[in-house]
Amino acid sequence: MLVVPIHQQRVLSGMRPTGQLHLGHYHGVLKNWIKLQHEYDCLFFAADWHALTTHYAETENIEESTWEMVIDWLAAGVNPGSAKIFIQSQVPQHAELHLLLSMITPLGWLERVPSFKDQQLKLKEKDLATYGFLGYPLLQSADILIYRAGLVPVGEDQVAHVELTREVARRFNHIYGREPGFEEKSETSIKKMGKKQAKLYKQLRNRFQEQGDHEALETAKALLEGQQNLTMADRERLFGYLEGSGKIILPEPQALLTPASKMPGLDGQKMSKSYGNTISLRDDMDAIDEKLRKMPTDTNRVRLTDPGDPKKCPVWQLHEVYSTDDVKDWVQEGCKTAGIGCLDCKRPIIDAVQAELKPMQERAKEFSQNRAMVRKIVAEGREFASDLASDTLDEVRQAIGIQYR
Ligand code: TRP
Ligand code: SF4
Repeated sequence: MLVVPIHQQRVLSGMRPTGQLHLGHYHGVLKNWIKLQHEYDCLFFAADWHALTTHYAETENIEESTWEMVIDWLAAGVNPGSAKIFIQSQVPQHAELHLLLSMITPLGWLERVPSFKDQQLKLKEKDLATYGFLGYPLLQSADILIYRAGLVPVGEDQVAHVELTREVARRFNHIYGREPGFEEKSETSIKKMGKKQAKLYKQLRNRFQEQGDHEALETAKALLEGQQNLTMADRERLFGYLEGSGKIILPEPQALLTPASKMPGLDGQKMSKSYGNTISLRDDMDAIDEKLRKMPTDTNRVRLTDPGDPKKCPVWQLHEVYSTDDVKDWVQEGCKTAGIGCLDCKRPIIDAVQAELKPMQERAKEFSQNRAMVRKIVAEGREFASDLASDTLDEVRQAIGIQYR
């Protein structure tokens, strides 16, 4: 396992621009991004090419959806001072890396990714027997590897894509990481550590290579990180030499599983556009009120005098997200004894959702009225991303042997 050391970890994640963001996105993905932006160097991008893999025939709204999505990110609290925000298709280096990775990626790896068949079945009305769609997870690999990201926050459904990314990176390093004289160069680098440390490095390397001792591997990595005498190139080489695979050009990322959002939809199922049970981040206050009032409750409570059971009621799941213990006790008691009506019960939820979304919508409005600012934020993100991406591509081209310098 070639993993980036913790302190160097860069976080990267993307989201496809497919329509309005809703509370499920906010409580699942966005709040997590907002937390991560304080802890890591984060890159967040709009995956518009990924949207094209399924929506290639309906492109009229893609650009507008992308801007609106970015505005929702900003309004929700993604801070361009901490995290870089950009649009995938504006950093075409992703495409070059995708192409180069496609050369070494066995078809079977892509055909075996679960989302390939699942989505084809789910979106039967679309012809997804396309080259682009098959390559969806490999494009995602390029998105990740072009920034040598260490951590990739994703939902459960995307973990297989990060797994593929790791395999592709490993294969790439294996094929192109073999510098001529790698062995000799490694030995020279080891000597720079001084006798004692060099000996320790070799022992740890042996323990890993001969006995598969992963603890020894981790210790050796920590040892390398603490070495003042090594150049970056030495260190990278010795990371690679530990596992005998050669130089690490593309480090393997790790999935950072986003905790599943507890936010239920209006019908108690997962909140999702395809179920038509969403509260959009842009729904106005009246719409929020109406949607929540209409929300179904425990079907046993036909009359006000019928006692209910919060366990059988989707409104209760919303109390789990929004309410204090006091309010929750009030709900439990009032529901089971028919002491409160369902509309009473929904009131604190309506208030909480409105209080949550109102300031967000005000910020969204400001950004909407100041597109120049949004464009500037995205342009800065693009520039930053583009520099990183070009550095990686230089090394990739060099490793492959098509640098023409
Ligand atoms: N496929 C991801 C999704 O549908 C979006 C995405 C594209 C992504 N490229 C990425 C996520 C790179 C993480 C890293 O949610
Ligand atoms: Fe659901 Fe509340 Fe009505 Fe009980 S009182 S059924 S928890 S909405």
